[in-house]
Amino acid sequence: MTRAAPTGVSVGNPAHAPRDDAIGTPPRRPTSVPTERYYAAAFAQLEIERMWPKVWQVACTVDHVAESGDYFEYRCGPYSVLIVRGDDGTLRAFQNVCRHRGNSLCTGSGADLREVKCGYHGWTWDLAGALKRVPNRRGFGELRMSELPLVAVSVDTWERLVFVNLDVSAMPLADYLEAVPQDIAWCGLGDFRCYATMTVEVDANWKTITDGYSETYHIQTLHPELHRCMDDVYAPQVIWGHTGKSEQIYGVPSPQIKETLSDGDVWDAYVCTQGALMGVAEYTPFPADRCGPRESVADVIAERTKAFAAGRGVDLGWASTDQMMRLHQYNVFPNMTLLVNADHLTVMTSHPGPDPDHGELVMILWTRMPPGAPRVKPADVRLKADDAHPGLVLTQDITVLAGLQRGLHQPGLTHLTLSNEERRVINTHRNLERYLDLPESDRMTGGETPDSSPAQR
Ligand SMILES: [Fe+2]
Repeated sequence: MTRAAPTGVSVGNPAHAPRDDAIGTPPRRPTSVPTERYYAAAFAQLEIERMWPKVWQVACTVDHVAESGDYFEYRCGPYSVLIVRGDDGTLRAFQNVCRHRGNSLCTGSGADLREVKCGYHGWTWDLAGALKRVPNRRGFGELRMSELPLVAVSVDTWERLVFVNLDVSAMPLADYLEAVPQDIAWCGLGDFRCYATMTVEVDANWKTITDGYSETYHIQTLHPELHRCMDDVYAPQVIWGHTGKSEQIYGVPSPQIKETLSDGDVWDAYVCTQGALMGVAEYTPFPADRCGPRESVADVIAERTKAFAAGRGVDLGWASTDQMMRLHQYNVFPNMTLLVNADHLTVMTSHPGPDPDHGELVMILWTRMPPGAPRVKPADVRLKADDAHPGLVLTQDITVLAGLQRGLHQPGLTHLTLSNEERRVINTHRNLERYLDLPESDRMTGGETPDSSPAQR
């Protein structure tokens, strides 16, 4: 890390430590964030110059590059990184560019790569990045091959996620992830296998996408079905620095719902939003006979989910109902959200598109498998937003994006007005301000804590 080293976020006076609800300890005033950050070309350019080349980003999974010769091209805005598993089994990453005239060396992903050969003039490197062949080399005069290796990119893995960082002097990934790995160590993430990625091209800035996976405030309005089977009030949040977390309990109705929901109502809402996780088809009625006096709806869902997992050889006997039904949602700056419980893992990222009003939502989809299961090379799918229907809730999240981005342009809206319930969104902006080194006059304002200390800065 050469600039903008993260600082841990202090919760300040223990008397004002956040409570275990989504709102936490409210500030004296809302936080105001300039909206132009979401559409101004100059701001996007600052991100491209000062932020994207300095941060660790999820590029693909170990399942994409498990064998020698497997390769994967990761793109983020103008940047392109080639990740390749070498003959020696080592994972390496390079800037995806020929050192002769700048052609891109690889696109997409594949297997059995033995060398990296530019398709323009034939310059060729080995999988460790050493230049091996230059056609008609004599014409260059004294061309020193050793001075023209592929340009290295930092690469590292956490569990089965492959991260890259264009900054070769970046802080270690393990440090960048702060408390996240230890916090979720109980879950055994290494037993999940990626089976697909879905990249959705949307009419929205990358932050507009990521913000939607950084707060639960929108659930009561945008996701009415989900609201009937999850608790968005007791939803503790913590911010560590570059990273943060929210926890949400599923299989219970939101305390905000005034009507009394029956067990069947909660079951129906869960089946309609997440029934696939327990292999239950929509409109399957609540198995009332299985609900004993001490067995909650959440217990029934957890047992059904465990039985479904057992069908593919996965033993979840160790997992409590809480470990099955509590969703742990981690945010890693700038663009990653990781959603996990004992049986479920989804990783979401977002990327800048060709201009600030366009971006990509990437969903990395996983299945827990028996320990030591072989990989199956993931299917990578790219879709337009209108063609993407990844389930009721995620489709609702995608559908809102274009109107949200258009609204951000309206001249009467100069600032977002954010609640402490949205403090992981605020934290994204806090870290962004550090990386971009914004002058004080361009920084967000408000959000002071009740004792008048600066808002978690
Ligand atoms: Fe959502």
